[in-house]
Amino acid sequence: MQETVLAHATLILPDQMRKGHVVLRDGTIAEIGEGAAPRSAIDCEGDHIAPGLVELHTDNLERHIQPRPGVNWPHAAAIFAHDAELAGCGITTVFDAMRAGSIPSRKDYAPYARELASELIEQRQSNALRISHFLHLRAEICCASLLEELASFGPDDRVGLVSLMDHTPGQRQFRDTQALETYLRSKVQMNDRDIAEYFAELHELSARNGVAHEAGAVAFAGRVGAVLASHDDTTADEVARSAAHGIRLAEFPTTREAAEACHRHSIRTIMGAPNLIRGKSHSGNVAARELAEAGLLDIISSDYVPSALLSAAALLAQIWDDWPRAIACVTSTPANAAGLKDRGRLEAGLRGDLIRFRLVNGTPALRETWVRGQRVS
Ligand SMILES: [Fe+2]
Repeated sequence: MQETVLAHATLILPDQMRKGHVVLRDGTIAEIGEGAAPRSAIDCEGDHIAPGLVELHTDNLERHIQPRPGVNWPHAAAIFAHDAELAGCGITTVFDAMRAGSIPSRKDYAPYARELASELIEQRQSNALRISHFLHLRAEICCASLLEELASFGPDDRVGLVSLMDHTPGQRQFRDTQALETYLRSKVQMNDRDIAEYFAELHELSARNGVAHEAGAVAFAGRVGAVLASHDDTTADEVARSAAHGIRLAEFPTTREAAEACHRHSIRTIMGAPNLIRGKSHSGNVAARELAEAGLLDIISSDYVPSALLSAAALLAQIWDDWPRAIACVTSTPANAAGLKDRGRLEAGLRGDLIRFRLVNGTPALRETWVRGQRVS
């Protein structure tokens, strides 16, 4: 029997905060108690104890395999570094986003998901990873090679999420193409002519593939038992289309109109933590804070800054004056949305995935992370 007792903690339970202790035994939460611990324990000195964070959409693994445009890093080393980084940010379950679909003219948009996923699964099976990993396949429905790439995944690949993405200029995230043009000029050194040719290629891919690939990606999600998500819904019509596909999860709706339509259709919304913390979106979309204040924000994702997940929860706790509600956005609500019933709450019988943090002038400082009762950071 392996046991860890965490005492003198401020516990963030599903519906209240309470001073007390937690006992982790054989990988699960065995007891939650009030007051002093019953036996020798780690003294948490009043720090907060919350469930481990659940991250549904992070670009972080992609950043590690390509730390700069054109620089490809060995996958095994990238996966270990990514895994350790997330553990150090309090994330105990992650859906690693990988793009499926390629753009023929761009070398940096070649297929990579199958190969990377196989390496990740191999490392997971050898118990080399600290946290719990699932795959999130970002199906770029207008891109080339999407259906062939998806066909290379099966029910044993832990594909937990499939999101339907359409980044064709002129709609959704890029309804206004200015931000995309700025990105292409600075990040991949395109000039005006390159951009015009590139946009023409993307419009041609969209006309050729959009409808058939969307249907193919929806069918694929059903085949591998993955939860389907929409991405960058902008209009009420787009949300209605998502709902018709059976979608119950919307990543980054770009307007208040879309977020309101999501709630009318019982679709949960995911907003980016960096957007919430910065007070605005980097691509000019609706501010996450506006949706939080309107009660239209359900889940937070760290998106491109892993440490932002816990910081965003602390900010939501301040906005709502409600820690349990804020923590739910980064734990139980994403776990439920992804169909994981064994984690996401401080509750006896669930997985022993916990974090300990302290607030330093309002900013959360992560102290320790446990996964299945083992300390991993
Ligand atoms: Fe997007």
